[in-house]
Amino acid sequence: MTVIKNSVLQRAIILSAALTLCLSCQPKRNAGDEHKWWKEAIVYQIYPRSFKDSDGDGVGDLKGIISKLDYIQSLGVTAVWLNPIYSSPNDDNGYDISDYRSIMKEFGTMQDFDELLKGLHERGIKLVMDVVVNHSSDEHEWFKQSRSSRTNPYRNYYHWWNAERGKPSSRYSLFDVNHDAWKYDSLTNAYYLHYFSRKQPDLNWENPKLRHEVYDIMKFWADKGIDGFRLDAFQFAAKDTTFKAFPEGYEKNFIKYYAMGPHLHDYLKEMNEEVFSKYDVMSVAEGAGNSFQDAHDLVDADRKELNMAYAFDGVDIAKPEGYNVIHFKTVFTRWDSAFADKGWLSIFLANHDQARMVSRFGNDSVQWRALSSKMLSTFIMTMRGTPYYYNGDELGMTNAGFDKIDQYRDMPTLNEYQHQKDTGGDLNKFMQRIKFECRDNGRTPFQWDSTANAGFSSNAPWIGVNSNYKEINVAQQEKDSTSCLNYFRKLTQLRKKYPVLVYGKYTQMDKICRHAYAFRREADGQKFLVLLNFASTVSQINAPVHPDAQVLLSNYPGAEDNKGKLSVNLRPYEAIIFKY
Ligand code: NOJ
Repeated sequence: MTVIKNSVLQRAIILSAALTLCLSCQPKRNAGDEHKWWKEAIVYQIYPRSFKDSDGDGVGDLKGIISKLDYIQSLGVTAVWLNPIYSSPNDDNGYDISDYRSIMKEFGTMQDFDELLKGLHERGIKLVMDVVVNHSSDEHEWFKQSRSSRTNPYRNYYHWWNAERGKPSSRYSLFDVNHDAWKYDSLTNAYYLHYFSRKQPDLNWENPKLRHEVYDIMKFWADKGIDGFRLDAFQFAAKDTTFKAFPEGYEKNFIKYYAMGPHLHDYLKEMNEEVFSKYDVMSVAEGAGNSFQDAHDLVDADRKELNMAYAFDGVDIAKPEGYNVIHFKTVFTRWDSAFADKGWLSIFLANHDQARMVSRFGNDSVQWRALSSKMLSTFIMTMRGTPYYYNGDELGMTNAGFDKIDQYRDMPTLNEYQHQKDTGGDLNKFMQRIKFECRDNGRTPFQWDSTANAGFSSNAPWIGVNSNYKEINVAQQEKDSTSCLNYFRKLTQLRKKYPVLVYGKYTQMDKICRHAYAFRREADGQKFLVLLNFASTVSQINAPVHPDAQVLLSNYPGAEDNKGKLSVNLRPYEAIIFKY
């Protein structure tokens, strides 16, 4: 460890650096500064299927969530995003909706929903619902009608290609066993399009009738009093319906070809006019196109489309072989700069489509799990942009790392396994890969306590419980003031207490440090310095700490010793938030 003596000279250098900074970076007001509740929100994402089962069928449900409302409130989060809870045959765990106005049987009833919404609101927590309208379920009445005949009034709710025209040009399906997005249907001798599974036919947004049906559905939920919408896969909703051929190999970069199709912005403007503008609701889209320009075009306030989008550049960085911290810092810094003056960002490192945050970005060994998980939470809660925090990460839940294919439940994973088998792929390699990155890793039952099934259900859950539930669970962490859970609560309090963490200008420091990350946040004369070590070894980072800085939070004791230093030796996975 390099120890730098705190001399009078050094103190003078730091003070003068701080002064220069003060003079040159007077916080200027800009579009991003306009205060909004959704910018200040701390969104906690609940995967209902795995959160809490109240009736012993092994599947989480709304009553289960209701029974945990006090826990959710205790986290200090201000909004909940619920993955889809609508009627669904569950080919893709609710992302295949068969009735947008009713609740999935396993999850409960509309009465349960009303109670849940009331319970959240009583606790000052908003509710954001998933809207899945790039596609529906093939069991939706619209699709049943649509496929019944070529002349059915619902035919144009979906994309059909009559077979006498020959086979349409290739479209890649993300989830299909053959990756073919055109499914032949003999009933009307035509193909229908499905970017996801064949049970998720794509809706035809060119049809104004369909669009207005969707707006009516959104209004139905907004009238119930929900506070926001997360638009699933919406960047793919608009298509060039001439279906011209894409160049060979396009599927390796399908987002380039699929995202931001013709009229997408017209649809969003219309949705804004018809729905968002009429309620105090927030809107966030999954996917942000192919460039910063695309992202801006989705969210710049004067365009009147969406409030936020979330891009995958950050979350995609972690790979089974590890990742480069400089790359991580560069990506997040670039996104921040692109939105420094206009627009608004979302910040997240995990969700239901990813394996666990600590297993991907941190270190899930017994020695480092808690420290690295707290460090990652510190990152999310101190960056600019609205944080989306995935349930279970507050405990530092880890990947389940299933070894056998029959332990997996995720449809695209099972389809891909079959595909690999059919095409002579390397199944061992495939199993190694999914052990690290399959999204089922993030979908195992929430670990409430050390009783059977982790206190999630009185019966065998729909997917296996992580074998470490006796060590990692809420009951155990409630008792420990230094637990990940209690650390997360401190983070949410800080974010709510100091708006500078929401709105303040972000400046990266020491861009070349290979293992640690330092950035400043500042506004209205308040400054924060955040130091994060992403390594299991000590990392030295050049980030001067003001002599009068106050340690607001750290995952180690003794962080005060760094006050007045020009560079800091961070202990493994150390995180410190200074204020000065
Ligand atoms: C994105 C959702 O987050 C994911 O879970 C789902 O499988 C696809 N969209 C299809 O709806």
